[in-house]
Amino acid sequence: MIKPGDLHHADYKSAVTDWAHNSKDWPMKEEIEKLKVKSELELTNLSTEADVYQFKSRYLGRNGSLTSLIKLLRDVDPQERASVGAALNTFKKELEEHIETALLHARFTAKNQRISESRVDVTLPGRKLPLGSRHPITTIAATVIEIFTSLGFEVVEGPEVELDFFNFEALNIPKDHPARDMHDTFYISENTLLRTHTSPVQIRTMKLTNPPVRILCPGKVYRCDSDISHTPMFHQVEGLMVDEDISFGDLKGILTIAVHKIFDEDTRLRFRPSYFPFTEPSAEVDIQCVMCRGKGCRVCSNTGWLEILGSGMVHPQVFRNVGYDPEKVTGFAFGLGIERIAMLKFGINDIRLFFENDFRFLSQF
Ligand code: PHE
Repeated sequence: MIKPGDLHHADYKSAVTDWAHNSKDWPMKEEIEKLKVKSELELTNLSTEADVYQFKSRYLGRNGSLTSLIKLLRDVDPQERASVGAALNTFKKELEEHIETALLHARFTAKNQRISESRVDVTLPGRKLPLGSRHPITTIAATVIEIFTSLGFEVVEGPEVELDFFNFEALNIPKDHPARDMHDTFYISENTLLRTHTSPVQIRTMKLTNPPVRILCPGKVYRCDSDISHTPMFHQVEGLMVDEDISFGDLKGILTIAVHKIFDEDTRLRFRPSYFPFTEPSAEVDIQCVMCRGKGCRVCSNTGWLEILGSGMVHPQVFRNVGYDPEKVTGFAFGLGIERIAMLKFGINDIRLFFENDFRFLSQF
């Protein structure tokens, strides 16, 4: 048998209909009271917006408990119909208000929860960005520049696209000179080229200023050459010192100091006679092999020595070409390759590694 409390039972409606007809046994008003108590209890258990909508449809939906009661109104004893109708109306209004409030509450709670879940925890440690490091070529260039500027040299730069005159002619390398073959030049036109060394910067500087001159010319240079020890672009630092009474002794002294600072104080140097069209006499500087300390190994081809730079006393013709009087001034010049120094210092056997920019290579420096 269905009891008055079984409000959601499928047979509820017919049961209530029977009772409505016998309102003395179970008057509608009592039924309304029971539904009220039940609804109030359920209302306190609603938490989400979905719960509230389900509750709403359970009571006020097409087959909802209250809707069903309202439908029974026409079966109620006509004498009681008005007051039962009023009671049903009041209950319905109350229920609608409760539902509104419950909806607001559910939304408010949900919003608060969203906010607290997405709250920024300011006590968490910050995320670290990976720090870059200097490219080994930049490091060596900076070291060389630092050493020579501390000796009073001034840094001067010039164009990478150069005139034949500054790159060759003024340096005593005329058009048919065999020394041009050594340079594997990238020509842009008959008279313009990518500079093959930074010596043209020295010509430009001497043409613009009077002695004394003490300059350092770092920069990119280009030669049409590519293998494990040559790249079409590489970095050079050249230096020039011009004044009255500059001697080969000055050249040896300054270069010895610099090489000792670049490598270490115990590094032995050797000045070996050589030839450059723009210096006379010329010398190539070798250092004792940094790998085997002179015993002989693969890096120094078993000679115990490594060639690291070219140098010499400025040729009188170069002075004449820039308007200096070779009877009054003398000077020395030198040039070194940054990649070569970096390879020796860091023990790198393939020059191309500097330009591939492989992160695994670069992050070691
Ligand atoms: N300019 C020469 C080169 O690039 C290097 C050098 C500079 C040699 C100065 C002697 C004196 O090969």
